[in-house]
Amino acid sequence: MSKAFYITTPIYYVNASPHIGHAYTTIVADVLARYYRMTGVETFFLTGTDEHGDKIAEVAKTAGIAPKEYADRISAQFRILWPELSITNDYFIRTTDQNHQETVRYILQKVYTSGDIYFGQYEGYYCVGCERFYMEKELVDGKCPDHQVQPEYRKESNYFFRMSKYQDWLIDHIKKNPDFIRPERYKNEVLAFLREPLEDLCISRPKTRLEWGITLPFDENYVTYVWFDALINYVTALDYPAGEKFKKFWPAAQHLIAKDILKPHGIYWPTMLKAADIEPYRHLNVHGYWNFDSSKMSKSLGNVVQPLELKDKYGLDAFRYFLLRDMVFGLDSNFSEEAFVQRLNSDLANDLGNLVSRTITMAIKYCDGKVPAMGPEHYDKLLLQAAQQTVAEVENCFQEMSLHKALIAIWEFINITNKYIVENEPWTLGKDPENGGKLVAIMYNLLAALRAISILISPFMPGTAQKILQQIGAAENQKLDLAGVAKWGALKTGSPLTRGESLFPRIEKDKEKPAPVKNAAAIDLKPEIDYEEFAKVDLRVATILAAQMVPKSNKLIQLTIDIGEERTIVAGIGKDYKPEEMIGKKIVIVANLKPAKLMGVESRGMLLATDTAEGLTVLAFDREAKTGAKIR
Ligand code: MSP
Repeated sequence: MSKAFYITTPIYYVNASPHIGHAYTTIVADVLARYYRMTGVETFFLTGTDEHGDKIAEVAKTAGIAPKEYADRISAQFRILWPELSITNDYFIRTTDQNHQETVRYILQKVYTSGDIYFGQYEGYYCVGCERFYMEKELVDGKCPDHQVQPEYRKESNYFFRMSKYQDWLIDHIKKNPDFIRPERYKNEVLAFLREPLEDLCISRPKTRLEWGITLPFDENYVTYVWFDALINYVTALDYPAGEKFKKFWPAAQHLIAKDILKPHGIYWPTMLKAADIEPYRHLNVHGYWNFDSSKMSKSLGNVVQPLELKDKYGLDAFRYFLLRDMVFGLDSNFSEEAFVQRLNSDLANDLGNLVSRTITMAIKYCDGKVPAMGPEHYDKLLLQAAQQTVAEVENCFQEMSLHKALIAIWEFINITNKYIVENEPWTLGKDPENGGKLVAIMYNLLAALRAISILISPFMPGTAQKILQQIGAAENQKLDLAGVAKWGALKTGSPLTRGESLFPRIEKDKEKPAPVKNAAAIDLKPEIDYEEFAKVDLRVATILAAQMVPKSNKLIQLTIDIGEERTIVAGIGKDYKPEEMIGKKIVIVANLKPAKLMGVESRGMLLATDTAEGLTVLAFDREAKTGAKIR
């Protein structure tokens, strides 16, 4: 195994606040970083923010502030969030950092000098949301398949990267290194894409159209295309070209992304690296998407909770555990609070929480509140072997990027330990002083198993691992070292045992009381209408592109929305929502309402919302809805 490990997350766009998708990728990267550190491998973990390009320039313009100021605000939200999720990144990069801008210019110049960047004419369909040109055949009904918006037809002179030149090399590299892109389905997706001729990549934007970017070193009238800029962050952070970190960590580079950005990472980036004479990264690890089913969320517990808020509601480690346990790496998953609570109750409260509290209570009682002295002849061979086997399985799972399987293996060991208690019945032995020696040996084996479990779970649930070590008197002297998991003798004789608070209290579902059925008069229904009357109302799915408070109003928010065409609407939701949290949301609007002016701003439509005990809530969707789609 290589003695270095370099893990990166995507650098997140600063046009919207962090959400659970960003949290998931960053938590997975954190688990990997913690795990490799624990195996003694020198590790570098990078995350950060992607701050240039059309998208950011546009939201900043709508918000009426400079792009850098906008980027500063949102980038800070990410930086503040990561410690709250116990993320242990070694570096936080921003593409507006001076050293990054220099690295981008250095690489551009290098590739330009070697002849792989040329100047040419381009015309085509440009989608602002994707920040790229589309070929006509890629459009669906003339629209961008991702954003459902008709792209603009643009014709301009630009700089191009000779990506096509590296097509055969890339196919060959992927075939020779079958785990270059993993899981396999994504490797196949990239290879399928490479079956078509690869086009050259347009890597500049004229300043007449976009100023918010890194100026090309060889033409100051152009800025760099945001992807050519952003991908380079992965080497900037290692002080490419001369840095020691680059030498040490680049050969061990592993990127972590979701499937949405497979093409830039699987195709643009390796060809860019090749052209810049940098060796390819080691692995591209691609995971699926979290989808949301908020109606289930509300049905199960009677309240709608933003997924990131579940961390505050149920605790960080439960949140991390759920995300890591419930998603099969590479496949999509559905996020529901109901599933979260179920996992918390069964795996965390029942299996792990009970094991810890039972063991500590009994050990305090039968061993005078201290770790007893114990010779190796009393080590339970089966339990010890099970611990060793678990370590081997966990190692395999990490090699394969199968974190949910690693957790399954650890939980098997937790349940073997639970079974050990049931089979040995310490409470029965405790009734007869004759059994004293045997009883203490059992307790010692249980404490050693708890120590093993703490180390095994520490990359996933670092806080819980520390709490358990604390209870078995080992918090200070335990190095989190994977090789030491099955060292049964590592517990220090005489260390005090302490009962802590319950690690994971069970969550009892509020019994939902069925609401009493009222008659029409009591619920104040409006007079009946027929379907034709209803059908006159044109309801649409709208995606919010930008949001800002209407000047001088404390209630009105001006929303720039996309319903297949761009519009402005004004909504009286400013007391219940912050403008920035609305960006990116899909909502329901009445699209054919006569325009009305609200505090000087013309509103062309109205969003739908309802009152709740906590204030207004805007109508949203259970599943992914298409921008502009009709609502029937
Ligand atoms: N700025 C680019 C990346 C440049 S990397 C050189 C970008 N940013 S992003 O803010 O849109 O982040 C996309 C990434 O966020 C995904 O690849 C994934 O890591 C994470 N996720 C966003 N939504 C997600 C889900 N619903 N589910 C899982 N992860 C998702 O693309």
